[in-house]
Amino acid sequence: MVFGDEQVLNDVSWEFEEGRIYGIVGNNGSGKTVLMKCICGFLIPTRGKIFVDYKQIGKDVDFPEDIGLIIETPGFLPGLTGLKNLEILASLRKKVVRPAIRDTIRKVGLDPDLKKNVSKYSLGMRQRLGIAQAIMEDPSILILDEPFNGLDKKGVAQIHQLILELKRQHKTILLSSHSQNDIDVLCDIVCEMDGGTLRCIRDRSREG
Ligand SMILES: Nc1ncnc2c1ncn2[C@@H]1O[C@H](COP(=O)(O)OP(=O)(O)OP(=O)(O)O)[C@@H](O)[C@H]1O
Ligand SMILES: [Mg+2]
Repeated sequence: MVFGDEQVLNDVSWEFEEGRIYGIVGNNGSGKTVLMKCICGFLIPTRGKIFVDYKQIGKDVDFPEDIGLIIETPGFLPGLTGLKNLEILASLRKKVVRPAIRDTIRKVGLDPDLKKNVSKYSLGMRQRLGIAQAIMEDPSILILDEPFNGLDKKGVAQIHQLILELKRQHKTILLSSHSQNDIDVLCDIVCEMDGGTLRCIRDRSREG
């Protein structure tokens, strides 16, 4: 992936397997978010191909179908409640109904009946709502770019449990985090982005 004269991604040949949690680590500006955006179809790589569920992104499909994501700060309509925001987003694909959305909001530690508009949400509350949005349609692939941003200790523990539960449901999860603890607790395989190259630095599935 090249922006102007900056080559951000160079050698990223990787096969992410079903049912695993992959940790993507690396310095600020190393290309973790760019990689995730490419996988989601938000950026078209200048070279190379990306396949999700055997479909080439940008060719067979514009965006992967069965994917949930939170990338950087989630955007919501500020003048509406959290529930209303998720209902509007859910109405695009019509995969989930209201009770399931309410249930998901509870799972991330928010109250679905909260009357506050999102403009009055704290950073952590907004982040929780973003996680709820990512998982509400029960996608089999999750792209979570620094999902713990702004969460308090209890929130981090709650979302750790939630992610481990999703792994038990055999979801494929790509997660970036600057917290070693998040990576240690959650990830089966840890990949480091460095100099535009992605390489495996830990594979617990092969450790005893
Ligand atoms: N749309 C864009 N246009 C030009 N350059 C971009 C664009 N998006 C990202 N970049 C550049 O790509 C590089 C990688 O950015 P990226 O956001 O992927 O880093 P990151 O690994 O996610 O860092 P962080 O840990 O800070 O989140 C940076 O140098 C950034 O400036
Ligand atoms: Mg990033």
